[in-house]
Amino acid sequence: MGRTILNFEGQGERIKNEIIEMRRHLHRNPELSTKEFETSQFIQDKLKEYEIPFKKGYAKTGVLAVIKGGRPGGVVALRADIDALPINEKTNASFASEKEGIMHACGHDAHTSMLLGAGKLLNKKKKEIPGSILLVFQPAEENAPAGGSQPMMDDGVFDEYTPDVVYGQHVWPDLPAGKIGVREGVMMGASDRFYITFNGTGGHASMPHQTCDAITMGMSVINQLQTVVSRNVDPLEAGVLTIGKIEGGYRYNVIADTVTIEGTVRTLNKQTCETMKQRLYKIVKSGTEAMGGTADIDYIEGYPATVNTPEWAKQVRSSAQKILGHEATPDINPSLGGEDFSRFLLKYPGAFFWLGTMPEHGNPKQLHDPHFELDEKALPNGTEVMAQVAVDTLLRLEKCL
Ligand code: NI
Repeated sequence: MGRTILNFEGQGERIKNEIIEMRRHLHRNPELSTKEFETSQFIQDKLKEYEIPFKKGYAKTGVLAVIKGGRPGGVVALRADIDALPINEKTNASFASEKEGIMHACGHDAHTSMLLGAGKLLNKKKKEIPGSILLVFQPAEENAPAGGSQPMMDDGVFDEYTPDVVYGQHVWPDLPAGKIGVREGVMMGASDRFYITFNGTGGHASMPHQTCDAITMGMSVINQLQTVVSRNVDPLEAGVLTIGKIEGGYRYNVIADTVTIEGTVRTLNKQTCETMKQRLYKIVKSGTEAMGGTADIDYIEGYPATVNTPEWAKQVRSSAQKILGHEATPDINPSLGGEDFSRFLLKYPGAFFWLGTMPEHGNPKQLHDPHFELDEKALPNGTEVMAQVAVDTLLRLEKCL
């Protein structure tokens, strides 16, 4: 009986305007990681309006809402991140950010409103639902490496209800609007960062023999670091080493005593990550020693890789196809972007998936771009898939009880 009632095909479309309105409100009023106070209040007000009970204060601004089904069963958690980025918006949207230097350039405004929409749909059918559905509104996703998922778990977000399965969704500008991208196994990469200071000895530009030139030292190490991916990483594995910043020196006739660089290491598996890290340390050490200087390395491990449980990734695919059709889930490659949801997946089985939001005119601007925009017509789809995968998972768990 539950199966026909618990079908959300077309249900998102019916509350489309409401979802878009929420998204635009959040887009106008973005807040930075750990400071999502008004956003948190907005979420709480909506939950009150929808009559969904909730608790607040996880990782400061995080909110946990609980939809208790009318029948006993398992627990599924649906997560949305709620924070924005320190970016000055450069779109011409009528609902562009009203806060100077802060922008929802990663779609978390859409994630939040879709999860609220899914909560509304699910709550209406709660009598038929076997088990409980947790709506997890997570702050500080952009605040790597601390993030918001671990702080929420540390604050006991799953103490009362422990999820059997967790799901998270992210808008994806490279996928056609409304399509769902999901794969078994690794979905998003591990994201580490490093800061290196090269210490030499400064002096007069005309007397290099009395100095240890930090610029020459830095350049030689930077060139060597480019061999890590090309010579040390298995060509069938993914790895990126990018140096995004370099700083040093004073003027044309002074030999620099220090140079600092910063960069990132992205990988899809732990062993590649370890290999790259070890090579980085060796190259910096030998490169600086050869030039007569020293270096300080600050290597910070960021979010781990986001690895989907095959069983639940397949569930996302079949739930999406059920309501959006068989063409709804094109094959995708993993991304080397980092994602805080990975830490939920370290503790609980589940899956992270993408919602295509490519604008109709094509040529999508990437996440974190000041021109980033998304096609709002995808939002009902994302809402429906969240709701559908939650109940389908509970129905499946019920069979195993
Ligand atoms: Ni994001």
